[in-house]
Amino acid sequence: MSTRLMALWEWFDSRMPSVAQEYKKHLAEYYAPKNFNFWYYFGSLALFVLVIQIVSGIWLTMSYKPDATLAFGSVEYIMRDVSGGWIIRYIHSTGASAFFLVVYLHMFRGMLYGSYKAPRELIWIFGVLIYLCLMGEAFFGYLLPWGQMSYWGAQVIVNLFASVPFIGPDLAVWIRGDYVVSDATLNRFFALHVIALPLALLGLVVVHLLALHDVGSNNPDGVEIKKLKGSDGKPLDGIPFHPYYTVKDIVGVVVFLAIFCVILFFAPEMGGYFLEYNNFVPADPLVTPAHIAPVWYFTPYYSILRAIPPLFHSQFPGVLAMGLAVMVLFFLPWLDRSPVKSIRYRGPYYKIALGVFVVTFLVLGYLGTEPTTVWGQFGFDAFFLDTKEIATWVARLGTLLYFLFFILMPWYTARDSVKPVPERVTS
Ligand code: HEM
Repeated sequence: MSTRLMALWEWFDSRMPSVAQEYKKHLAEYYAPKNFNFWYYFGSLALFVLVIQIVSGIWLTMSYKPDATLAFGSVEYIMRDVSGGWIIRYIHSTGASAFFLVVYLHMFRGMLYGSYKAPRELIWIFGVLIYLCLMGEAFFGYLLPWGQMSYWGAQVIVNLFASVPFIGPDLAVWIRGDYVVSDATLNRFFALHVIALPLALLGLVVVHLLALHDVGSNNPDGVEIKKLKGSDGKPLDGIPFHPYYTVKDIVGVVVFLAIFCVILFFAPEMGGYFLEYNNFVPADPLVTPAHIAPVWYFTPYYSILRAIPPLFHSQFPGVLAMGLAVMVLFFLPWLDRSPVKSIRYRGPYYKIALGVFVVTFLVLGYLGTEPTTVWGQFGFDAFFLDTKEIATWVARLGTLLYFLFFILMPWYTARDSVKPVPERVTS
């Protein structure tokens, strides 16, 4: 049997040798630094969750109806009548939150070890594009169950585009395909969610990895392993990705699956954080929910949006700040002027700045899940501040700190003290 298989492989290989060449280039002979730690699980986990989402999404599409009169019912049908439908739906909804969690940790790793710095700027830029696509994917997907939160969430977000000067109202109609969120909107969001954005995501992930494999992986020491090669031409501190890191990544996948299954079987709605309660009520264009909030992964930006007061009754300043909060990520490789990459060899300025940034992001995220803040109060009546006003001011402070992290970065990273970086990785 094995000789027959070998013969079949040789037949294939003599006709398409590029498969074996690519296998060698990207796995068997891709030399990765030998000191990868916990933070290096999240790239492969993001890849794993991407596959989960695509496979569970294909199965959901088999029973889902992208029609405003049928969509809500078809999701209930999946949950109650389709065999195994409930678990496929929960896999997909829990997978969405897992995707963002894993990607946030993956991005944080980049910030810990300066993985966005030269020569890896393109890897980071493709990463930010992936993040933008992921946000679009989650937003379009959220309309599909056609629940109250789907409907009103889309209404709120599309209306934000209406605040863009001059072209805003036309832009919002163009996005919706109607004057309100309607069947036409549902149809186009379905098309974007199931085909356009997954294709874009897959393409971006491929170029993300190609860019990574061209320059090689960074590592927790921020040492360039390609600089020090043995007599065989292989990096002294590198080990072949396969089998060493494929085995390590499988451990990550097993632990991830254990946690994922606990959530899936015991808390798939996660107290309203993964699936909001209002979304179990069918969309009703005549009844606006009292409190409209996006899913947790968007709430830091939602907080920034709400923290900026309107100008001449236009929400545009908030919308602009929200957009800038994401776009600024593109510039990280050039804002960071530190001569070292890894946090291990950086001084106190960057450590404090990154710590404050993480706390700020979490606080903004929490505030974004809370009911609306009060607009237009500028705090001079300090003794009469209620908790909502305090929350508004905390969100404003958070917004300021979020932007200061980036704006002041060229200054504090250039002035920070650094420790000498060793020649070889330390592990
Ligand atoms: C679908 C989402 C994503 C997938 C599947 C993905 C996949 C991967 C994989 C498999 C690696 C190599 C393994 C590792 O270093 O952990 C990697 C590295 C990297 N990714 Fe991503 N990624 C995604 C999103 C992002 C995002 C959103 C960013 C940043 C904005 C990003 C930035 C990076 C960087 C800088 C590296 C190089 C890390 C290093 O060498 O230290 N990635 N990615």
